[in-house]
Amino acid sequence: MDSYINSVDFFKGNNPEALVKEYGTPVYVYNEDIIREHMRSVAGVITKYPYTANYSVKANTNIHILKMALEEGVNCDAMSVGEIKMLEAAGFPYDRIFFVPNNVSDEEMQYAIDRNIMTSLDSLSQLRQYGELNRGGKCAVRINPGVGAGHNEKVVTGGKKTKFGISEEFIDDIFAIAKEYDLTIAGINQHIGSGFMKCEPYLEAVTNLLRIAERFDNLEFIDFGGGYGIPYHKLDDEIPYPMEEFKKALEPILDKFVREYGKAPLFKSEPGRFCVAEGSVILSRVHAVKENNGKTFAGCDCGMNVLVRPSMYDSWHDIEVVRDGKVVSRKDLKEITVCGNICESGDLLAKDRLLPEIQKGDLLCILDTGAYGYSMCSTYNSRPRPAEILVTSLGKLEVIRKKETYDDLFRLM
Ligand SMILES: Cc1ncc(COP(=O)(O)O)c(C=O)c1O
Repeated sequence: MDSYINSVDFFKGNNPEALVKEYGTPVYVYNEDIIREHMRSVAGVITKYPYTANYSVKANTNIHILKMALEEGVNCDAMSVGEIKMLEAAGFPYDRIFFVPNNVSDEEMQYAIDRNIMTSLDSLSQLRQYGELNRGGKCAVRINPGVGAGHNEKVVTGGKKTKFGISEEFIDDIFAIAKEYDLTIAGINQHIGSGFMKCEPYLEAVTNLLRIAERFDNLEFIDFGGGYGIPYHKLDDEIPYPMEEFKKALEPILDKFVREYGKAPLFKSEPGRFCVAEGSVILSRVHAVKENNGKTFAGCDCGMNVLVRPSMYDSWHDIEVVRDGKVVSRKDLKEITVCGNICESGDLLAKDRLLPEIQKGDLLCILDTGAYGYSMCSTYNSRPRPAEILVTSLGKLEVIRKKETYDDLFRLM
């Protein structure tokens, strides 16, 4: 496709050049309709049995986005007390929050216990800690199913090499600790990794978790984790995650389990990226273009402090070039390395990428930045974090987070 932002009218008639004139660059711009549509899609993955989709808020904790989840009937997963506090501020009742931390302190665990928030324990040691704090309570355990997969080694969260979850070989120890502290194990969850573009690895993980679930009596819920990918290579016409095919293939697997288990527990999933990634772009200004040893570098103000995924995971984000408010066609392409303004040689957004010629003063529109974008921003190199702007369903522009100021950098010192 020549332009994604044109094909979906991402800015809903607002001119990107006018937008940055008002809000500056770099700036995160969200499209409300796209986010809500993705949330509705995950909310409908299972219809035959009790089911909730839990948006994994670490992908993006902007309260305005959390409120969309609340309105779309999507529950949420929190990984920290800070995330629980964000959900409280967005208006989430505690029974719509699932706390899925790892390696937390007594104080953090107690925060969830005091609010009756269902909590999943990620190790035998944390399960024991929970028992000490909440004897007779009800909780879940995170299983490490021994297999993992993902778009990068750093997002594989299941399998023998990762820090997450309790391996199957320790299930009897789970039962022993539960007995010792009179705990009810109400649910099990897993997450094997992120960025799946095919159904098979996820379906295999579901089947495997259901096999493990049979060892637990009377589970109230089984949570399959997140991980549905999005087409980061959309300009090369990458096919989206086949959600309909996935739903069809999942149903008989659940049918078989429900028959054999004798009841349908609540099924859950924990998608993060899928809900929000495609609903945001970053607009960034090109401040310099240069040739170095035969390579063309375009230097913009979206550094790794604004979007760390390419530096951290080698992630691909499609880039559109906008000149005088219009997308430059991708007919004539040239190899360009796009970099940010941070003093690190790894501060690269795109290496040797085929892009339309880039000129100083152009705007770059970096696609699919809604997940693990702003939530991973930093003030590295003492650069204030950017603003977040929402293009509402009615096409209005709303500031949903102000740009930080230089004063903010000094606030806690
Ligand atoms: C426990 C858990 N749940 C959900 C997610 C969300 O994953 P994704 O954003 O790929 O859907 C993650 C991501 O690592 C996770 O670790």
